[in-house]
Amino acid sequence: MKHSALLASLVSSASATIYYAGVAESGGEFGVWSADATPGTGLPGAFGVDYKFIDEAGIDVHVDQNHLNLFRIAFLLERMAPVATGLGKTFNETHFDYFKEAVDYVTVTKGAYAILDPHNYMRYNDPSSQPYSGSVIGNTSDPTAATTAQFGEFWGELAGRFADNEKVIFGLMNEPHDMATELVLQNNQAAIDAIRAAGASNLIIMPGNSWTGGHAWAEGSDPSSAIMHQFTDPLNNTAIDIHEYLDVDYSGSHSECVSDPATNLAAVTSWLKEHNLKAFITEFGGHNNTGCDDMLTNFIKYMDENDEYIGWTAWAAGPFWGSASPCCTDSQSFGSFEPGSKAVDGGPSLYDTVWLKVLQPLVPEKLQWSGVASVTGGELADFPA
Ligand SMILES: *[C@@H]1O[C@H](CO)[C@@H](O)[C@H](O)[C@H]1NC(C)=O
Ligand SMILES: *[C@@H]1O[C@H](CO)[C@@H](O)[C@H](O)[C@H]1NC(C)=O
Ligand SMILES: *[C@@H]1O[C@H](CO)[C@@H](O)[C@H](O)[C@H]1NC(C)=O
Ligand SMILES: *[C@@H]1O[C@H](CO)[C@@H](O)[C@H](O)[C@H]1NC(C)=O
Repeated sequence: MKHSALLASLVSSASATIYYAGVAESGGEFGVWSADATPGTGLPGAFGVDYKFIDEAGIDVHVDQNHLNLFRIAFLLERMAPVATGLGKTFNETHFDYFKEAVDYVTVTKGAYAILDPHNYMRYNDPSSQPYSGSVIGNTSDPTAATTAQFGEFWGELAGRFADNEKVIFGLMNEPHDMATELVLQNNQAAIDAIRAAGASNLIIMPGNSWTGGHAWAEGSDPSSAIMHQFTDPLNNTAIDIHEYLDVDYSGSHSECVSDPATNLAAVTSWLKEHNLKAFITEFGGHNNTGCDDMLTNFIKYMDENDEYIGWTAWAAGPFWGSASPCCTDSQSFGSFEPGSKAVDGGPSLYDTVWLKVLQPLVPEKLQWSGVASVTGGELADFPA
């Protein structure tokens, strides 16, 4: 007893550690948006034409050359569990197989970790005008809405299929917003319960409300900070999933960085500390200018210095961006964090000007390369020779 208490105090006073670092792979959620918001647009969609999860050559560069060990892989609930049969355990097996192929490439072939990312804003049944369309999961006033129990059933099924892969991390939901925080908590809890009931002990990361924005965690009349710590996980292997953009409205659409995370995360960081929780920041980004260079650098250092943060993925790489930009360019086309990406004029892309120039040098030299993904991290090592 005494020895373990002593060990625990030594461990907790050690310097803060990032175990997992990489990029979000955005592309599995592509092909459904329609200007007139027509429900069903792009569903189910053709794999490799309308949407795709990863480009293997891009993953190769990010792992072999850049030594990244974490990829967050987006998919759409409506493709995995088609609307015709509803949210739950009936999957489109063809779609699932394509998804599993991407997850296995990252985790088995390359030995990195993968976050499964249902990119659905806690909504299901109409992704045509994301992030606003579709019924809020668990909205009992909406007869067309999937229930909280169905969300649990879905996660139980998905988790069971990846339970034997210790490098898979379950990201419960991308950016819930404009709903009661209590319902976010209930849906998260249903998913955690179903995942553990399925026998999966994998690391879970769960979002808060308000786009899971770190700066907003303790703000407003229904803040995440008031209740989000009330979840229970029998295995104590659940961390918090936070997003944080640096522009004026925290949307990641503008090229100027003016909202300093090192200041704006103070409240959520003390909330994490108070409740003894760890966090991943799975979306953030910036443009190619001096203000963003400095702020991104300080941001990564902030995560390095605060024990509460154990992993991050920047937004975004992905197979289908072309010269379009996922983040932070005032809608100009400077490409993405996908290796080989080019700006629309053929010039350097965000991969060259932001990833390689600013973020890559801040990737820790030692990360976790083997063993189970966990809130307590694992053994740190140099990239496997
Ligand atoms: C299942 O997914 C595949 C791959 O995208 C698609 O071609 C097929 O039409 C889908 N089937 C159903 C029933 O949605
Ligand atoms: C729940 O559904 C009702 C009925 O459709 C709707 O008025 C309400 O806005 C929905 N709530 C949320 C949070 O979307
Ligand atoms: C989880 O944490 C609680 C509270 O600290 C503790 O009582 C419990 O034993 C832990 N369970 C496991 C499986 O570690
Ligand atoms: C953007 O990146 C290019 C190429 O690295 C560089 O020459 C240029 O000065 C950068 N622009 C700004 C505004 O920093």
